[in-house]
Amino acid sequence: MKETQVRIERHINELSKFTSTPHKGVTRLTYSNEDLQARNYIKETMKEYGLNVREDGFGNIFGKLEGILNDAPSVLIGSHFDSVPNGGAYDGTAGVVVGLEVAALFSKNNLTPKYPLEIVALIEEEGTRFKGGLMGSRGIIGSLSEEDFKSLKDKDGISTEEAMSKIGLDTSLPKKRDPKTMKAFLELHIEQGPILEEKSSPIGVVEGIVGLTQLEVTVEGRAGHAGTTPMDRRSDALVTAAKIITQLPDLAIDEGEGTVITIGRLNVFPNGANVIPDKTVFTVDIRSGKEENVCNVIRKTKELIQSYSEDTIQTSVEQHLYIQPKALNKSIRSLLKQTSSELEIPYCSINSGAGHDAMILSDVTDVGMIFVPSKDGLSHCPEEWSDAHHLANGVQILYEAAKNLTETKS
Ligand code: GLV
Ligand code: MN
Ligand code: MN
Repeated sequence: MKETQVRIERHINELSKFTSTPHKGVTRLTYSNEDLQARNYIKETMKEYGLNVREDGFGNIFGKLEGILNDAPSVLIGSHFDSVPNGGAYDGTAGVVVGLEVAALFSKNNLTPKYPLEIVALIEEEGTRFKGGLMGSRGIIGSLSEEDFKSLKDKDGISTEEAMSKIGLDTSLPKKRDPKTMKAFLELHIEQGPILEEKSSPIGVVEGIVGLTQLEVTVEGRAGHAGTTPMDRRSDALVTAAKIITQLPDLAIDEGEGTVITIGRLNVFPNGANVIPDKTVFTVDIRSGKEENVCNVIRKTKELIQSYSEDTIQTSVEQHLYIQPKALNKSIRSLLKQTSSELEIPYCSINSGAGHDAMILSDVTDVGMIFVPSKDGLSHCPEEWSDAHHLANGVQILYEAAKNLTETKS
């Protein structure tokens, strides 16, 4: 356990160095140089732990421990290795590192599973570079088609495949994965909220994950001189956007039942201090545990935005992501709870307000997820921190669960 904890700390520390914003948190965009550095570190560690490494046509990484059975479906364990801008060292990365350490225990104990074990490190869960998010898992299950993947571009107009080629990834490798090759998926993630810490519970077994959507709103007006255009002759895209944005939080508050709304990105064009903005683009992220709440707030958001369209102001809305709330697999939830009890690690049940690759993979395979506490409930910021001791508990639980699901004799 101590050995595992030390290695977890080392992996987290090493991976946190692969950031484009040193001393200002982790910024690791998909297919960037930092992605390549983290990718190489993960692949090397997989090899060191006796796994056969491959990548798919999205750049997702898989490290496989073959099973006794031929052509049998794998038990997958992992998470994502991209980050938000100026995020922390644990979101996603902790789940990849824990997966690696589960493989290390199989190797140390010379175990050959009956069903294969695969450790996975997924791309672009956050959607920071190519919008939408959950891209690696959506690609695997085919809900993001090859054509749609190829058509995505980052803010500089660089396409996904151009960006992949730049870091030497092979775009011709297979993309969608046959669901029959997956027996189960397990993900550990940091909680990213305050509940486990408040309850002094070292483990949360996730029951369900919120439904979420991401809208991109464009408001177009007319540019003009900041000094010479009278106030009554302006079509200011930013002022209109601001009027809309200030009303959005109330839509979630009025809906209630834990519904939340976030305007996280706002770009103003042409972005000159003395130019009236002619275009504003902002994102709206809407979440709730109940699909009905998400749908109501989407409808009201669209109606509000539409009501601001007039002669000289145009508004439009694009939906980049829509995922229903998901309940995770009942028997895997029971397995995770039973395993925690047997290991004498206290746990509680918890729902996730964050989106996770687990919710996508739950469409095609049996999925289970555990959380570990986040210090002060903080995440998506440089202060994000989780105790390596809690992560090592996670390794123990997922190791036992993986032995069960891969039908490994020890
Ligand atoms: C991922 O972090 C999400 O919940 O947006
Ligand atoms: Mn995140
Ligand atoms: Mn995450």
